[in-house]
Amino acid sequence: MNRNSGKTAIVTGASSGIGRASAEALARAGFTVFGTSRKISGQGSSEISMLVCDVTDDASVAALVSDVLARTGRIDLLVNNAGVGLLGGAEESSVSQSKALFDVNLFGVMRMINAVLPSMRRRDEGRIVNIGSILGLVPAPYSAHYSAVKHALEGYSESLDHEVRAFNIRVSVIEPAFVRTVFDQNGLEPDSVMKEYDQARAGIDALLRDVMPKADPPEAVANVVLRAATDKRQRRRYTAGKTARLVSTLRRFAPAATFDKTLRKQFRLPA
Ligand SMILES: NC(=O)c1ccc[n+]([C@@H]2O[C@H](COP(=O)([O-])OP(=O)(O)OC[C@H]3O[C@@H](n4cnc5c(N)ncnc54)[C@H](OP(=O)(O)O)[C@@H]3O)[C@@H](O)[C@H]2O)c1
Repeated sequence: MNRNSGKTAIVTGASSGIGRASAEALARAGFTVFGTSRKISGQGSSEISMLVCDVTDDASVAALVSDVLARTGRIDLLVNNAGVGLLGGAEESSVSQSKALFDVNLFGVMRMINAVLPSMRRRDEGRIVNIGSILGLVPAPYSAHYSAVKHALEGYSESLDHEVRAFNIRVSVIEPAFVRTVFDQNGLEPDSVMKEYDQARAGIDALLRDVMPKADPPEAVANVVLRAATDKRQRRRYTAGKTARLVSTLRRFAPAATFDKTLRKQFRLPA
């Protein structure tokens, strides 16, 4: 018998990209998978049950979790994947726009976790996998708000992992770099675009044009999600993909000045 059969997983934001690939990988590995989207329109494959959930809405999150518990009686794994991007100069986004970003990418994660923890604690078992980003380790220009929210996710996840280990629940963060999804098209536009950042914008557009065709497919990240979900000795952090591994290693071992210079060159910024 498959060692994951009988186990229930929720994957938020499973209508496309990394969430969808992760839901499919978990289903193939034997999990009973509930994927979520804000709107159900027949997406998802036959092996994934798609349910409606907006992670910015307390009532929507509570309804999702009680629905899954009513159907299966247990939640073994939560993959917090739902997220949006925001590319632009720090000064080009208002605080209210940044709050909207945090509401999905951080408070959405907290809402989901607070909703599933009581049932995981009762069963004295559970795994939580949060989709972070290499920008949660390395702040990059033109991503200040997004880097901030992914750094916050790292801190929150590590604290939580210390706390819930007492209940046999573990928390991991997955750190991908560039992944070929519709993330950029779905991202928020800065709410006050300024011509002073046009040159920086052109630099990042050129970088994305270069790297995106060679970026990792979402399935590569999904394989890492599956590892975090099933590893006997789960790790707190998993980089996903070659670029993420390289950046993470350089960040740890390269001298700060060299790292700074290389990053600015990548982003076409003056030395
Ligand atoms: N692509 C990359 O290069 C990359 C790199 C590093 C990390 N990531 C992270 O990977 C995760 C997934 O991104 P992706 O690249 O797969 O992008 P994507 O294809 O745009 O998927 C985003 C998912 O999030 C869901 N979502 C957005 N707002 C939501 C909300 N308020 N409530 C519930 N669900 C919501 C969307 O579902 P609906 O629109 O159907 O509701 C969609 O399924 C994100 O956390 C992102 O930060 C992406």
